[in-house]
Amino acid sequence: MSDKKASNQMWGGRFASGPAAIMEAINASISFDRKLYAQDIRGSIAHSEMLAQTGIISTADQEKIAHGLNTILAEIEAGTFEFSTRLEDIHMNVEARLAELIGPAAGRLHTARSRNDQVAVDLRLWVKDECFRVAEALKGLITAFLERAEEHAATVMPGFTHMQAAQPVTFGHHCMAYVEMFSRDLSRVRDAIERMDESPLGAAALAGTSFPIDRHQTAKALGFREPMRNSLDSVSDRDFALEFLGLAAICATHLSRLAEEIIIWSTPQFGFVRLSDSFSTGSSIMPQKKNPDAAELVRGKTGRVTGHLVGLLTVMKGMPLTYGKDMQEDKESVFDAAETLDLMLAAMTGMVRDMTVNAAAMKKASGAGYSTATDLADWLVRALGLPFREAHHVTGRAVALAEEKKIGLDRLPLEGLQSIHPGITADVFSVLAVQNSVKSRTSFGGTAPSEVRKQIRYWKKHIAKA
Ligand code: ARG
Repeated sequence: MSDKKASNQMWGGRFASGPAAIMEAINASISFDRKLYAQDIRGSIAHSEMLAQTGIISTADQEKIAHGLNTILAEIEAGTFEFSTRLEDIHMNVEARLAELIGPAAGRLHTARSRNDQVAVDLRLWVKDECFRVAEALKGLITAFLERAEEHAATVMPGFTHMQAAQPVTFGHHCMAYVEMFSRDLSRVRDAIERMDESPLGAAALAGTSFPIDRHQTAKALGFREPMRNSLDSVSDRDFALEFLGLAAICATHLSRLAEEIIIWSTPQFGFVRLSDSFSTGSSIMPQKKNPDAAELVRGKTGRVTGHLVGLLTVMKGMPLTYGKDMQEDKESVFDAAETLDLMLAAMTGMVRDMTVNAAAMKKASGAGYSTATDLADWLVRALGLPFREAHHVTGRAVALAEEKKIGLDRLPLEGLQSIHPGITADVFSVLAVQNSVKSRTSFGGTAPSEVRKQIRYWKKHIAKA
């Protein structure tokens, strides 16, 4: 049996017409790059206008081209456009239909252009639009957190390190930590937009063109700040897609950490929050259960977003300048990461807005684990002038005593404390209660409700402009 025969037997079922069908299947991108139809048509109209204005094509041809392209746009939006895999991608599908609609003038559109700069401009326009969508979604999430923080600026909860109760903090402070994280994500989006705001159109295949085109005009018409300065880089750069995936992966990671906290907080063991019915599901067998599915999916989908970043980094790492068909693999990563991130942001904003906070459970837990031990040590330093190391030691003995008596630090009798260090006075109780501990942490960025309210004021003012 020849190799050829073996191959045909292997592939015959799926690819009835042999190697040509396989080539078509591996080569075609229309199944996913049709998403770029609006950007492709926009780019082509801008290009044709520039060609007419520079006298490269006639105004009459340009008008036919623009009319034909607008007809195609309407057909695609009405769902009557017939996409063909044989025509490979969105660019050739649109161009072939344009020829059907307007005849030979269609052939003039591709003057001084290549699919290499065409696809680069289409995807850039798409990613830029998506960045604006992500920025809006982030602002929505940040606003939701600001509202919860305001409501709970003084609600005490345990702060954790190593997932062990460490020191009491406020829930408002915890919310504001996420405001900081998502604000950094937002600033990453803004930075990325700034850098991707250059047009590759007019680089043609790679070397530029001998036609007297005006790249500044097309850049402006498409809403870019300016044209990219190097034609080779214009067609080969995919940094903008990588940056988008990078910021998406970092943002997804933040969302995932939050999801993990919500999952833990909503267990009956913690009971810090209760998710609304709209963001949880029941179990088909255990009637008592309410599962945080939306949060779990946010955590799970993070793997997908990060995977797309690693995927495209891996595609690009072996690419010599300039264009190679490998780069066609950029789109599915970007589209799926974008769709996933949009959904994650929407779900998380809903959860944060809707969840019920159980302040009593948080307060109860915040006193556990001798969480005000540091406050006792600090008091010994402040009131009695002990060196911190000695204060640490005295506090350790107080914790041991409380443990032995199975009571909280704030319940220890004064005599008990004085047996450990005779200088201790009743004033110490002012710092042992969690509420007081929290109130005392007034350092910049600290957890005192007064500080948290300052942070809220800062972000309320800045988020409007962010
Ligand atoms: N579908 C292609 C892509 O997405 C368009 C560019 C094709 N260019 C080429 N020289 N074959 O990358």
